[in-house]
Amino acid sequence: MTTETRYEGGLGIEPGSDPYESYERMRRDAPVNRVGEGFWAVAKFEDVNAILRDWQTFSSIVGAKAISGEVPASGMIFNDPPIHTRLRGMIQKAFTPRVVEEQRPAIQAYCDELVEKMLAEEDPDLVASLAYPLPVMVIANMLGVADGDMAVFKRWSDVIIQNIGPSLLNGDDSGLGDTNAEFNAYFGERLEELRRQPDDSLLSGLIQVETEEGKLTRDELLMFCRLLLVAGNETTTGLIVNSMRVFSEFPDALQQVKEDLDLIPVAVEEALRYYAPFQATIRRATKDVELRGQKIAKDERILVLLASANRDEEAFENPKDFRLDRGRNRHVAFGFGIHSCVGAPLARLEGGIALATLLPKIRSVTLLDDDAGEMLLPGGPNSLRVHFELE
Ligand code: HEM
Repeated sequence: MTTETRYEGGLGIEPGSDPYESYERMRRDAPVNRVGEGFWAVAKFEDVNAILRDWQTFSSIVGAKAISGEVPASGMIFNDPPIHTRLRGMIQKAFTPRVVEEQRPAIQAYCDELVEKMLAEEDPDLVASLAYPLPVMVIANMLGVADGDMAVFKRWSDVIIQNIGPSLLNGDDSGLGDTNAEFNAYFGERLEELRRQPDDSLLSGLIQVETEEGKLTRDELLMFCRLLLVAGNETTTGLIVNSMRVFSEFPDALQQVKEDLDLIPVAVEEALRYYAPFQATIRRATKDVELRGQKIAKDERILVLLASANRDEEAFENPKDFRLDRGRNRHVAFGFGIHSCVGAPLARLEGGIALATLLPKIRSVTLLDDDAGEMLLPGGPNSLRVHFELE
């Protein structure tokens, strides 16, 4: 590896260009690549897997203030054991396969309603009509705030996502404005109501969850609400958008799935591999390490390119093909290791029901105002007009 092959100062992705072309170049020329001061990007499946597996060497505590010890690392996703283990144990208790499966009738009802309205429109906006509202309705229902204001949730979620870089990495919360305060006031009040009068919602369950280490604190409960609203929404929006993107590019696969709807779970997995909704996560080296001849120093941070790993030629046969016969699909769209996605069963259920509702009604889908560069954003594009040819 020579410095000439590096893309110092960035991922080498031009705005508006297809990120997968850059990932391919990285895997070929600079799979462990210094992309900025104290920042690396890792592009190959094997390395991505090894990093996610080894949380002792590659920590999820990546925030500048947490690294310097100025503030303790908070939350679950950007934390390590033992705090992560405690929080994850608690959320899993309230997030069991049974709880997820119980959402099926509500998800089906939302899908029926949203798909019918969407297909009544000429060239609808897929994001506004289905991909955004479905996950937000589902999570709001699970949090017991189904009557809440979707537009407000969307605004909070967008602001939090847009500021995740500066607020997490540099501790700069200035872009968040009043969002955290508004969010905490809204859910804080809801928590008080549920303490007084528990119901069967996920949030009420989380309040009741008690393990040997005790109950979740108010701050931890608010963190979960924020995590579920943000992590659970934009990504599932991305899954729905990306499934349609795949079917617009591979119309034969669409026909195959239409002819055999039992292929839907396989199609969902392959769509997750093909266009990962959450393109990258981040880790910090806890000691000096060497990876493919590159020396990563203690406390340097690493962009773990999940989307690139999922197209690695050494891990997947013909990775640029969308295939329904891949057999075991070991994509890392949901991450891997101790932080692997808690919400994966819910996302799979939502994606599957959305496809099962929509596909029998359409012959083809064409994306009308596509911008490949927006795939990099966690929820994909903010709007995407599509043309459906109806059955
Ligand atoms: C297609 C949709 C989704 C994708 C692609 C996705 C992706 C991911 C990934 C890659 C991680 C690991 C991050 C890391 O290792 O740093 C993760 C973690 C997580 N996800 Fe998801 N996610 C999706 C849907 C959801 C949903 C629906 C929920 C909840 C309602 C959710 C909740 C979480 C939580 C709580 C974590 C943190 C787990 C931990 O730190 O142990 N996700 N997700």
